[in-house]
Amino acid sequence: PAPGWAIDADVVVVGSGVAGLTAALRCSAGGLRTVVVTKALLDDGSTRWAQGGIAAALGEGDTPEQHLEDTLVAGAGLCDEQAVRALVTEGPDAVRRLIETGARFDSDGAGGIALTREGGHHRRRIAHAGGDATGAEISRALATAIREGAVRVIEHALVLDLLTDAEGRTAGITLHVMGEGQHDGVGAVHAPAVVLATGGMGQVFSATTNPPVSTGDGVALALRAGAEVSDLEFVQFHPTVLWLGPDAEGQQPLVSEAVRGEGAHLVDAAGTRFMVGQHALAELAPRDIVAKGIMRRMREQGADHMFLDARQFGAEMWENRFPTILAACRAHGIDPVTEPIPVAPAAHYASGGVRTDLHGRTTVPGLYACGEVACTGVHGANRLASNSLLEGLVFAERIAGAIAGAHESGSARPGPPPGTGTGEPTAAGAPVAAGSPGSVPLLVPEARHEIQRIMTNGAGVLRSAGSLEHAADSLEALHLSALHEAGGFAKAAEPGVESWEATNLLLVARVLVAAARERTETRGCHWREDHPGRDDAGWRRHTVVRLTPERR
Ligand code: SIN
Repeated sequence: PAPGWAIDADVVVVGSGVAGLTAALRCSAGGLRTVVVTKALLDDGSTRWAQGGIAAALGEGDTPEQHLEDTLVAGAGLCDEQAVRALVTEGPDAVRRLIETGARFDSDGAGGIALTREGGHHRRRIAHAGGDATGAEISRALATAIREGAVRVIEHALVLDLLTDAEGRTAGITLHVMGEGQHDGVGAVHAPAVVLATGGMGQVFSATTNPPVSTGDGVALALRAGAEVSDLEFVQFHPTVLWLGPDAEGQQPLVSEAVRGEGAHLVDAAGTRFMVGQHALAELAPRDIVAKGIMRRMREQGADHMFLDARQFGAEMWENRFPTILAACRAHGIDPVTEPIPVAPAAHYASGGVRTDLHGRTTVPGLYACGEVACTGVHGANRLASNSLLEGLVFAERIAGAIAGAHESGSARPGPPPGTGTGEPTAAGAPVAAGSPGSVPLLVPEARHEIQRIMTNGAGVLRSAGSLEHAADSLEALHLSALHEAGGFAKAAEPGVESWEATNLLLVARVLVAAARERTETRGCHWREDHPGRDDAGWRRHTVVRLTPERR
């Protein structure tokens, strides 16, 4: 659909989690006219749900070098060491700046920040807030700073596509705004710099810790714009998600790794600890190893869940240290003070995403990506616990620096849009949409469940050539039915958020499955039953996808 209205800015940030809001605040502080667009409300993304915390070498005796070492080990040979070095060395100061922005972390009672442990960390280095409500506090602090500052916010705004100028450089975005007001319907924000901070794609699976808004919109936009996307096969399944029955769907309550960090044990129905002997760190092994350990035990015993036993904490510690998790368990009739918590792995985090350099630049000039939507190289094949909030912070600041530099040098200005010759695009519709759900037939909202079913059965924790081929065929059939407007999922789809979300989910699912088929080895969180070993000779490299125009 053609944009019906347009506004101008120096930078538009898409998404309002830690990455998006930090980028927006820093750009605005640098004097850039900054607009944030977000699909729902300012605090509706994944950041708000983060429990455990934010990792940084803040503790006595800890060093960025040790944080680097743990991150590289978890990443299973695929981290970009330079990116990790930037993360761990700039991390502590980025956390201090977050505190200056207003975030309040739990204190250790001696004037310092309380630090906990999580899987893969050899030291206590996870700062937390409100016990287990770290993301909510970060979200609150950043949203408050945004509301008090000069950033313009457009809520209920689903990004559709990238606008580019005659030279293929970024010129803004199109978006669909729902609600009542000046900017309803399909419009455009014209800007020479676009920061994608749209979060993850957990909704591509039936059960996930991600909120309903995590539908891969940023990756889908980037693919349609011809940007490179990397490592989508590395979907991290969090080992301990509250198990609510075999048919549970949608967002599931997380039981933070910090519960294990404080001493909880994983046990089977007989009460036997099964991670002991599997890894030197037992329950605190990197996340992929614990998820696999749980899956193996479930298979051996024909069980659909295991248990996390933290009864030894007692009521007071549960109430003070993990109030969010305690409330979630009790809301589902489980009392962790007196009984073990049923848990099973569920989709949690996309370690891959839109490929960037060390300053968040994608392969499309003027398009940046930050946070879960990005693949900066810091996570490799398996993200280390609590590195994600940190990545959002550190790389948002790097992106703001890069955009300010480009703005000053004038290289951020797009060339003349086709046919206008006027330099800056100012009129709605002048720049060209790089691809569009408008030009790709939309799926009806119900297709979301079909995609989730296909992905959970074929491309979940355990994958094989056969399961992936089946998933690829089923997704292709959906795609073809949409192309020919044939079949139940493509017929009469009305343009709207849910249809666009289903369409975006299908695109990212197809690319994820293609990458998972290509990687014929087991590494990090990509587990191939038919290729159980890690193949460093053949596969110590990334999968990179760039869609040709006809595949978009
Ligand atoms: C958790 O609290 O276990 C989640 C931390 C993370 O995903 O890094």
